[in-house]
Amino acid sequence: MPITDGGVDATAWRKNLPGIWFLDPGFSVTASTESSITELDGGNGILRYRGYPIEQLAEQSTFLEVSYLLLNGELPSAAEYDQWVYDVTHHTFIHENMRKRFYEGFHYDAHPMGMLVSAIAALSTFYPEAKDITDRENRFIQINRLVSKVPTLAAMAYRASIGMPFVYPDNSLSYTENFLSMMWRVAEPQYDADPVLAKALDVLLILHADHEQNCSTTAMRVVGSSHADPYSAAAGATAALYGPRHGGANEAVIHMLREIGSYDNIPSFIESVKNGEGRLMGFGHRVYKAYDPRARIVKAQADEVFKVTGRNPLLDIALKLEEIALEDDYFKSRNLYPNVDFYTGLIYQAMNFPMDMFTVLFAIGRMPGWLSHWNEAIEQDVRISRPRQVYVGEGERKYVPLSDR
Ligand code: CMC
Repeated sequence: MPITDGGVDATAWRKNLPGIWFLDPGFSVTASTESSITELDGGNGILRYRGYPIEQLAEQSTFLEVSYLLLNGELPSAAEYDQWVYDVTHHTFIHENMRKRFYEGFHYDAHPMGMLVSAIAALSTFYPEAKDITDRENRFIQINRLVSKVPTLAAMAYRASIGMPFVYPDNSLSYTENFLSMMWRVAEPQYDADPVLAKALDVLLILHADHEQNCSTTAMRVVGSSHADPYSAAAGATAALYGPRHGGANEAVIHMLREIGSYDNIPSFIESVKNGEGRLMGFGHRVYKAYDPRARIVKAQADEVFKVTGRNPLLDIALKLEEIALEDDYFKSRNLYPNVDFYTGLIYQAMNFPMDMFTVLFAIGRMPGWLSHWNEAIEQDVRISRPRQVYVGEGERKYVPLSDR
C-alpha cells in the first residue's frame, strides 16, 4: 500500500484487501476525513485556522470575524464583515415559546449544559426547513441562526438556573457584550460590559472556535452524516462536549484546585495522580505533545482579567502545580502539558461565571467550528459514518425459557 501524506488510504486498502479491518478504539490512528479548516501540529504546538496562526487571530481579530473565516474559508472584506455582524446580530431572538414553555419546564437546579443540549435540539422543531441540507443557501440560514442564538440560549439557561427573569438580546451591542448583558443585566437600561472583560471573553471564544476532529466535532460530523438537520447534529456535539474529558475539563480543573486547597497539599496530590488515583485535569491532550498554544494565550489573558477582577486565589496553586508537573518525569515522559482548559476556568471564575456555565461558554465558542465541519462534510458528500467492530461475545446459543433459568 502506498503511504501518502504520512498515511494509508483505507478505501484503496478495502479494495485491495477486502475483509481486513483495523481495530482502533478512540480513533488514535484513524483519520476520519480530509479537511481544510484547521491545521493542528501537536508535536510543534501549532494551531492555524484556514492557514492563519491562532496567535495572530487572537491578537488582531474578533470572534465573529474568525467565525466567518472558519465557515467561508477566507477572511471577510469590510462589507462582508459588516453584513455578517448585522445578520448575526439580527437573529439573536428566539421564539417566545422556547422561553415560556420550554425553559420553564426544567427543574429549578437543572445544569445549564443539560438545558443547552435540549434547547439546541428543540430549535429544529421551530425550523423544519432545516431538514433540506442539500441547499447551500438554506444551510447558511441555519448556520447564521445557530451562531446567533446559542448565546441567547446559553444566557437563558443560566437565568433559568438561578430563577432570574430572562434578558432579551440588545442589538446595539457587540456579540460578546450582548451575551454579557443577557447574563448579568438586572434593572439598568443598558448593561455596560467592562471592555477588558468583553475583549478577554472574545479572545477565549476565538481560541475555542475550532480544533479539528475532536470528540464533539466528530459527533457533529457523525450525526450530520445521517443527514439529520444541523440543530440535531449540534445538540449531539454539545452533548459530547459536556463530558469532563472534553469541554467539562475547565469545570473539573476548578474542583481539583479547590480540593488541593493549598501549596502543602500539591506534592501528595501529584503522587496520587502518578499512582493512577485520578488525573491532573487541564493537562494532557490526544494530539498536543508540546505546550498547547492556546494555553499560552489564555495565561496572558488571565493577567489582563485579574487586573480588573482581582487575582483569583486559586491561580497560585495552578501555577505551582504546573511548575511541579513540568519538572516531573511522569508528566515529562508522557508529554503532558497544560491544555486550554487549565487556565480558562480561573478566568471565568474571576469574571463571576458559575462553574456549571464554563462548558456552556466553550459551546458558544465551538459552534462555528462544528458548523464549518458539518458544512464541509455535506459539501464533500461523505458516506454515512458506520465503523466496523470486532465481535468478541458469545457464539450462537439456544434460547432458554424463563421458567428453566
Ligand atoms: N493526568 C495524569 N495522567 C494522564 C493525564 C492527566 N491529565 N492525561 C493522560 N495521562 C496519562 C495516562 O494515564 C496514560 O498513562 P499510561 O501510558 O501510563 O497509561 C498516558 O498519559 C496517555 O494517556 P491517554 O489516556 O492514552 O491519553 P488520551 O489521548 O486518550 O487522553 C485526554 C487525552 C485529554 C482525555 C487526557 O489527557 C485527559 O484525561 N486529560 C485530563 C482532562 C482534560 O484536561 N481534558 C481537556 C482536553 S483539552 C480541551 C478539549 O479539547 O476538550
